[in-house]
Amino acid sequence: MDFWAEQAQRLHWDVRWSEVLDNSGAPYAKWFTGGRLNVARNCVDRHVEAGFGDQVAIHWVGEPGDTRDITYAQLRDEVCRAANALASLGVRAGDRVAIQLPMIPEAIVAMLACARLGAPHSVVFGGFSPSALRSRVDDAEAKVVITADGQYRRGKAVPVKAGVDEALAGSAVEKVVVVRRTGTPVSMGERDVWWHELVDPQPAAHTAEAFDSEHPLFILYTSGTTGKPKGILHTSGGYLTQVAYTHAAVFDHRPGEDVYWCTADIGWITGHSYIVYGPLANRATQVVYEGTPNTPHEGRHWEIVQRYGVSIYYTAPTLIRTFMKWGEDIPARYDLSSLRVLGSVGEPINPEAWRWYREHIGAGKAPIVDTWWQTETGAIMIAPSPGAAEFKPGSAQTPVPGISAVVVDDAGKEVAPGESGYLVLDRPWPSMLRGVWGDDARFRETYWSRFAGAYFAGDGARYDEDGDIWLLGRVDDVMNVSGHRISTAEVESALVSHPAVAEAAVVGAADPTTGQGIVAFVIPRGVAEVSVQELREHVAREIGPIAKPRQIMVVPELPKTRSGKIMRRLLRDVAENREIGDVTTLADSSVMAQISGRVVQ
Ligand code: WT7
Repeated sequence: MDFWAEQAQRLHWDVRWSEVLDNSGAPYAKWFTGGRLNVARNCVDRHVEAGFGDQVAIHWVGEPGDTRDITYAQLRDEVCRAANALASLGVRAGDRVAIQLPMIPEAIVAMLACARLGAPHSVVFGGFSPSALRSRVDDAEAKVVITADGQYRRGKAVPVKAGVDEALAGSAVEKVVVVRRTGTPVSMGERDVWWHELVDPQPAAHTAEAFDSEHPLFILYTSGTTGKPKGILHTSGGYLTQVAYTHAAVFDHRPGEDVYWCTADIGWITGHSYIVYGPLANRATQVVYEGTPNTPHEGRHWEIVQRYGVSIYYTAPTLIRTFMKWGEDIPARYDLSSLRVLGSVGEPINPEAWRWYREHIGAGKAPIVDTWWQTETGAIMIAPSPGAAEFKPGSAQTPVPGISAVVVDDAGKEVAPGESGYLVLDRPWPSMLRGVWGDDARFRETYWSRFAGAYFAGDGARYDEDGDIWLLGRVDDVMNVSGHRISTAEVESALVSHPAVAEAAVVGAADPTTGQGIVAFVIPRGVAEVSVQELREHVAREIGPIAKPRQIMVVPELPKTRSGKIMRRLLRDVAENREIGDVTTLADSSVMAQISGRVVQ
């Protein structure tokens, strides 16, 4: 406890807390009770007040090559204007604001403006479909939506507002604020207002209120084992304490010296915690890049590292494997000598990728911190320290100071070194989720029912002989595609919503680049012709392009147990071209022969 009290002193508190942790309402923990603070002021104003107003907060690089350097003083002015603007639309503390924006400075400004007003934001990844946006807006009952006219993707301007219009038709949203990014023509309706017309004329001064440490900061939706995404709720004081602490400790970040770059999108938790809140609370100077890594060429990231002298670079294994495919001669053309710490997140990093990253990006010597955490944990939980005596490629190694993580067996008993089991977090931590928005039963059931008194992460793990932790992937029906969580049920329900599909089963199959790839098995409805391509497009329309199955197999039957449960294990064997495992529990043992003999690809 003393440890976290000490870490909380990284922040500016208007009122100091009276108790570090109140877990009497477990599993809903309260951290720094009685404390009051404003998250946005902690991330922006206090650095200006301390004399660092001229320090660059954000080196922004647009995909077409336009750039903007934003100092902390400029960021403060923009956040204040945006806060005044949202307040003028009637946004008050506690109101929800949905944000669907590309990686432009306004995205960060919008999040901080919400935080400043105490209005929880719900950021929706730009790649999500209109119906995915709508269900999130409805679930959170968002009052305002902030979006853009369009976004740049692989050198082209693609519309965004048009999709938002489709999503919000007939919804209760009161106002839609539109940032002009691409100049794509949009139709502006009665509730629509341009960001520049609304925000630019506002005063650059705004008196921020100090909110309770447990005041909601944001909701972020993530896939679970059912088709309906869960709105993960995070609050203020504990969250900011842990993201600030881990950003400083795990990456050895030094304000005023380092140039930091996290390549995530703000639509994911990594962007929330390690682009917006952690780095800004720590007065980082960071790179924010709008586009894809191969636009206009495959050396784009290394060109940016060279140009800004990036010293800490944090990315995902799927991207490292993509860089490997493009070839080591590409990074070799750039001066990467500024890099001193490399990070990885999203899935276990395979040793080949780890070695390539270290050798070709880290000059054979930069420490690689493999960080395990989740949307729910809010911040990094398991990671080697950058000064670790020994790095183990593929292992996240040890819980960070102040965190307890253990690997247990079915009965909840800690397993011995060398054995595997389930990863649980057996002590509360400051940035832990404070529930599933509007669904207390799901919160308790998903995370707290499997092992008494401990949080079940959903991941398998094992200890090695030294007691270091190796993550083994999800143990539930959640896939990990390019470091993004997608539930099998979500894709299945998208597939069966197509008129040509009677039944569908989806599995994650090992994929050399994306970690897992989505493989779907569908039974056609009646005699209808099924176009596999059309089904893939249908899933992309329903959920978003990231959920598009890599492969769809049209089959006559699905393997089910006598109680009707689909045996995904057997489908995974087919998807990964393995010999089919034990079929004795199948209701009809001939099904697997039919499937493997009749797959149409
Ligand atoms: C799931 C959480 C945390 C931000 C990105 C994903 C997997 C994440 C690692 C890692 C092994 C990892 C887990 C976890 N995962 N990082 N370093 N090693 N697995 O956040 O979408 O909430 O997904 O990603 O399976 O449960 P998320």
